[in-house]
Formats: sequence, structure tokens, C-alpha cells
Amino acid sequence: MKVGIFFIICFNAIFIGGNSQNSTRSTTQDNSTGGTPAGGAATPAGSGTGTFNVKDFGTKGDGTSDDSKAIQAAWQAACNSTGSPKVVIPTGTYLTGPVQFFGPCKGVTTITVQLEGTLKASTNLEQYENHDWIQFSWVNGLILTGGGTFDGQGAVAWPYNKCPANKKCNVLPTSLKFNAMNGTIVSGITSLNSKFFHYGLIDCQNFNASGLHITAPEDSPNTDGMHIERSSGVTIADSTIGTGDDCISIGHSNSHVTITGINCGPGHGISVGSLGKYQNEGDVNGLIVRNCTMTGTQNGVRIKTWENSPGASAATNMTFEDIVMNNVGNPIIIDQTYCPFASCEGNAPSQVKLQDISFKNIRGTSSTPVAVTLECSQGIPCQNVILEDINLQHSAGATATCQNVQAKYLGTVVPPPCKV
Ligand SMILES: *[C@@H]1O[C@H](CO)[C@@H](O)[C@H](O)[C@H]1NC(C)=O
Ligand SMILES: *[C@@H]1O[C@H](CO)[C@@H](O)[C@H](O)[C@H]1NC(C)=O
Ligand SMILES: *[C@@H]1O[C@H](CO)[C@@H](O)[C@H](O)[C@H]1NC(C)=O
Ligand SMILES: *[C@@H]1O[C@H](CO)[C@@H](O)[C@H](O)[C@H]1NC(C)=O
Ligand SMILES: *[C@@H]1O[C@H](CO)[C@@H](O)[C@H](O)[C@H]1NC(C)=O
Ligand SMILES: *[C@@H]1O[C@H](CO)[C@@H](O)[C@H](O)[C@H]1NC(C)=O
Ligand SMILES: *[C@@H]1O[C@H](CO)[C@@H](O)[C@H](O)[C@H]1NC(C)=O
Repeated sequence: MKVGIFFIICFNAIFIGGNSQNSTRSTTQDNSTGGTPAGGAATPAGSGTGTFNVKDFGTKGDGTSDDSKAIQAAWQAACNSTGSPKVVIPTGTYLTGPVQFFGPCKGVTTITVQLEGTLKASTNLEQYENHDWIQFSWVNGLILTGGGTFDGQGAVAWPYNKCPANKKCNVLPTSLKFNAMNGTIVSGITSLNSKFFHYGLIDCQNFNASGLHITAPEDSPNTDGMHIERSSGVTIADSTIGTGDDCISIGHSNSHVTITGINCGPGHGISVGSLGKYQNEGDVNGLIVRNCTMTGTQNGVRIKTWENSPGASAATNMTFEDIVMNNVGNPIIIDQTYCPFASCEGNAPSQVKLQDISFKNIRGTSSTPVAVTLECSQGIPCQNVILEDINLQHSAGATATCQNVQAKYLGTVVPPPCKV
């Protein structure tokens, strides 16, 4: 039950500790010409709508030759052009190691990566070192689409993932990492069997994803569907996510995140947190989770903060509404006593302030008797928590448990409110 927590630790270690370059990058690129692919299909200089087919840059597309360099060359040429270029990866299977889709692409207004085929991640872990698999960084106006598949081929790597048991683990590569992007659209893309997370967002603004399919087995370690950190203006809509960990996790320093139309399961549910592990974490503000269905997940909607948090922060203005729970372990859970390690130094209460949180129209079945858990911090009780129109059933009678919170109840609330 607590296993899912460790991945956040590992994740934070790599993102915050290991990634010093983020929102800025110098460039030597010039925006004055279109691409001139090797082997013909040259794009006229300044054409503005250039198509950069990876085949023209030498991909084999046979599933066994390493196509990383050719794909990256197609991107470079497109990024170096003007207008709204498109990198096309046609039907076929392309084996690659890490591929870096880096900007800035100074002359372009939008740049499309149209994946029609399947990209397969190399299973040779030595190729990745500190890299994720597919990395998009410092690009404005990226559109990733095409109906294709990113296959992380994670099964070979999962046995090497020690994060569920060891704080100082080596983190495996995330399949799709978005770093310091602005104005991104991802639609109609499948991600299979990531080695670690499927999608990771950090320092992104204005990011819209829809029509995603994200799949990994229920017992695969740390295969979160999407983790979002230090980002704002993020919408994830109309997607199907089944993994071995959180379907979506919202880390610290996020604002204006909307999650809607998600079918989640198997997995650990949709989670805020874990928050409060580090000093100087930014607040979470303005989260909407709406019109989602959870099936057979370990949790439904969850907010999780650390005990012994080194600094104060807040998570406020969060709404969870119109959610169906089918046989879910902890359909509604706030847990501010989170501490996964046997040896936590002391038991200082969490310093993450939770305020203005509403759970509305949440119905269905719980697979455990305690359908609602509101365990707030002894140091900073939760403020303004509202439960409205809740109907969660369990065969032996559902119950609720609360600490350090005086929730407000509106409409019909089953299980009945906690006695505080
Ligand atoms: C990375 O972002 C942080 C916080 O946004 C900022 O303080 C830091 O200077 C940035 N680092 C680089 C290399 O841009
Ligand atoms: C690149 O783009 C800028 C801004 O759109 C423009 O002023 C400039 O003429 C373009 N070409 C070069 C070579 O910088
Ligand atoms: C980018 O454009 C410049 C100027 O035309 C050219 O010298 C350079 O080779 C191009 N780089 C790539 C990767 O296409
Ligand atoms: C992102 O793009 C928007 C719209 O173009 C712009 O207003 C904003 O300043 C950009 N943010 C960053 C960090 O560049
Ligand atoms: C994302 O969706 C919002 C709301 O529909 C819209 O305002 C915004 O412009 C979209 N962003 C992009 C990059 O398409
Ligand atoms: C709810 O989400 C489903 C996808 O799971 C979508 O088809 C439907 O249109 C959404 N309904 C509303 C009211 O947004
Ligand atoms: C609360 O969050 C919503 C959704 O992101 C946002 O529209 C609204 O402005 C926020 N309200 C406050 C008071 O921050």
C-alpha cells in the first residue's frame, strides 16, 4: 500500500537534484533556412511549412537498427527552419536510445512531431546514463501527434529498479520528459511499458494533452502515467491510463492544473503529492479533477504530505468532482502523516497547509471499509474542506475517519460524516 510513495522520492531526486539546466539555454541556431535533408526531399529555404521525413535522414525503421541519430537530425533541421515545420515518423518500428528534441527553435511558430509508427526504446540501460528516453526541452509551440506509439520496453528494466526499496536508488529513464516547454499540445499518442514514468513534466507552461493511452502492468514499479511539477496551465483530458503506480501525480509548485475525462486503472489513482519533502517547495494552487472514472485502483483521489516536512508550503483551491469509483481501495484520502521510511527522525507534524478543498459528486464502491480518510496535520489542521453529494458503498458498510479537520458536509454524504 505504501510502496507507491517511493517513486516520488526517486523522481524528486532526479528532477530537482539532477537537472540544473531548466528554463534557459543558449542557442547557436539560425532561423533563416529550411531544412536540407540528406538524400533529397529538401525543403525550400524559408518555406515555412517544411516536412522533414525521418526516412530522408536515413532511418531504417526495421526495429533493430539504431535510428536515434537520423531522427534527431530530422528534428534539428526542422527546428532550424521557419514557419510551422513538421517532423514525420511514418509507419514502421524505429529502435532508439535517448533522443533529444531540444529548442529553442527560434524561427518557428509551431513545430509538429507526427509519430505514425512505433518508437522502441533500446533495452541497453548503459545507453541512458543520466538521460531520459525521449526528451523535449526549451521548445515553444510543440505539437506531438499522429496516433503512434512510444514503447519503453520496460519489462527488461523493471528488475533493476530498486526505488521501491531504497531511498538512494538509481532512477531508470522516463519515457517522455517535457522540460521548460511553453505552449505544448500532445494528442492521440500511446505510451507502453515505460521503464520508469511514462510522462514527466517540469517547468512547463500551457500544456494540453488529450487522447492519450498509457499502459503498463499493474505490478510494474514506478510506471506513473504522468507526473507534473513546477508547471502551470496544464490540462490532461480524455485519456485512458492503466499503470503500476499513480495514473497522474501532481507534485509541488503547480498551478492551474485541470484533469478531466480520465479512465484510470489499474494503478494508484490520481494523487497530489507527495508534498513537503523538500525545503522551499512552491505551493500547489488551482487544481480541478473532474469527470473521471477509477476502476480497481489502490486509491481514488489522494492528497499526501510528509511528516517532518523541512519547510512550510500550501496546497489550496483544489476541486475533485463528478468522479466514479469502481471497487477502489481508498476512494477519498488525505494523508498528512506520510513517512515511508522506518527511521523518520522524530514525528513533527506536516507543515503543508491544506485549504479550500472540495470533494463533490463522488460515487461508487470502495474495496475497503474506510471509504473516506481525512487525516490532516496536527500542526496545521486542514481548512475549509467540503464534502458534497458523496455516495461510496462497501459491502460491510462504508465508514469515514478524520483527524484535525472539521469538514463541511452538504447534500447526502455516505459514509456518514466523522464524529470529531
Ligand atoms: C532553474 O529554475 C529555478 C527555479 O525556477 C531557477 O532558480 C534557476 O535559476 C533555474 N536554473 C537555470 C539553469 O536556468
Ligand atoms: C529570425 O527571426 C527573427 C524574428 O522573427 C527575425 O527578425 C530574423 O530576421 C530571422 N532571421 C535571422 C537570420 O535571424
Ligand atoms: C541550421 O541553419 C544554419 C544556417 O543556415 C546552418 O549553417 C546549419 O547547418 C543548420 N543546422 C542544422 C542542424 O540543420
Ligand atoms: C509562454 O508563452 C506565453 C504566450 O506566448 C507568454 O505570454 C509567456 O510569457 C511565455 N512564458 C515563458 C516562460 O516564456
Ligand atoms: C490549452 O487549452 C486551453 C483551454 O482550452 C486554451 O486556452 C489554450 O490555448 C490551449 N493551449 C494550447 C497550447 O493549445
Ligand atoms: C467525461 O469523460 C468522458 C471520457 O472519459 C468523455 O467522453 C465525456 O464527454 C466527458 N463528459 C463531460 C461532461 O465532460
Ligand atoms: C481556483 O482554481 C481555479 C482553477 O484553476 C481558478 O480558475 C481560480 O482562479 C482559483 N481561485 C483562486 C482564488 O485562486
